Amino acid sequence: MRITTKLTLIISCLLIVLFITLAWTSYRHDQQMALQETVGKARAIARQIIETRDYLSSVVTTAQVEQNPALIPQVAATRIARRLTQGSPYYVRQVSLRYRNPQNRPDSYEQAVLQQFKGSQVSEQFKVVGTGDHETLRYLLPMVAAQSCLACHGTFEQAPRFVQQRFPKGHPSYNYHPGDLIGAISVSVPLSGLQQAIMRGIRQEIVLEGTILLLLVLVTGWLINRIILAPVAKVSEGIEAVATSGNFTSPISVASHDEIGRLVTSFNDLMAELEQRTRQRRESDERYRNFIEIAQSPIVTLLPNGKIVIANQKAEKLFGLSKEELLGQCIFEFMADPQPLQQGIADYFSAGGSQMIGTTSRQTIRDICGRLFEVEMVVSVSQTEKEAMFTAILRAIKD
Ligand code: HEC
Repeated sequence: MRITTKLTLIISCLLIVLFITLAWTSYRHDQQMALQETVGKARAIARQIIETRDYLSSVVTTAQVEQNPALIPQVAATRIARRLTQGSPYYVRQVSLRYRNPQNRPDSYEQAVLQQFKGSQVSEQFKVVGTGDHETLRYLLPMVAAQSCLACHGTFEQAPRFVQQRFPKGHPSYNYHPGDLIGAISVSVPLSGLQQAIMRGIRQEIVLEGTILLLLVLVTGWLINRIILAPVAKVSEGIEAVATSGNFTSPISVASHDEIGRLVTSFNDLMAELEQRTRQRRESDERYRNFIEIAQSPIVTLLPNGKIVIANQKAEKLFGLSKEELLGQCIFEFMADPQPLQQGIADYFSAGGSQMIGTTSRQTIRDICGRLFEVEMVVSVSQTEKEAMFTAILRAIKD
């Protein structure tokens, strides 16, 4: 797999994780906010209704109410609430455990909350009930009896006649005291519409963020490729070219001054250095070959195992072989008694020196036709970084 592909994959994975996390948090946040807003609205409606009722109860006289029953605080508040919430998903009721109007009978949920209010000083209660598309926010605000309410909700005897007539003595809706829980405003809001709105928002967000994400991945991939990978590929191509051609002379061009630029510069320096050394070695090899070619004596250069690697014209004549034939041959084959030379080379390696090296000795050489020659031989050694090479200079003894 190419590095670009790997990097793009890694970055994509990281970004996708980030993206999903962000979308999820944003969804949760939106949901939280929407719920808070809904609760706030329900609270405002409920408070408004309580205020209306309190106000009416404190200003309207029983005589006025008797003349116009639409002024009964409960009746007026119910109508106002209906107007207030018309066309909105908010549904408002006013419920009481000791109701006068069966329409105001609490459902089981409201009953439970009213019981809860009765036992404690809770100022409000809300909860999301149901699941999925049937999720509903239920909000209840308790209503307590004020002094003014007792005109109709106090004792039976206190109540105006029209109330007494509708609700006979012993009806549970009498005998409240100031501060008693008398009922609650109950607001319900289905949340499905809200949920849909949130999902719509999230979907738009995902499309937008997804596009940005995609662009980000593409731009990052392109930048990484351009800034890092393309120069690296160029360097590796350069190295490959050098490795296959052995030509150190063409430097790789430096495009930047960053780490990669430095790498290229160092590589070019290394190549230049190598080139110089190779040239020097070739020159000295050349010089050596020319030198031994004009020498008057046969000269051969051998590896420790006796293999001939360099030979001059005089050596060709001595052994009776052309240079091509001679190179690669083992010198010991041409010696009547190779033992002293073999020993001398072995001593050089084991003891670091040998009697044989540097001193002239008499040897018998056998040429390719089997003729024997007496020669004087002097061996010298040259140590390269890799291995030792031995050069033998021979001189035929004429008898
Ligand atoms: C003028 C008389 C009068 C006054 C004052 C009055 N109410 Fe009522 N109230 C009634 C009547 C009558 C009903 C029944 C209305 C109906 O038939 O829907 C009622 C109904 C209610 C209900 C609905 C439950 C039920 O019994 O059906 C609540 C809650 C309530 N009143 C609370 C209050 C509070 C709180 C106050 C004081 C702020 C108050 N009322 C002041 C006459 C009164």
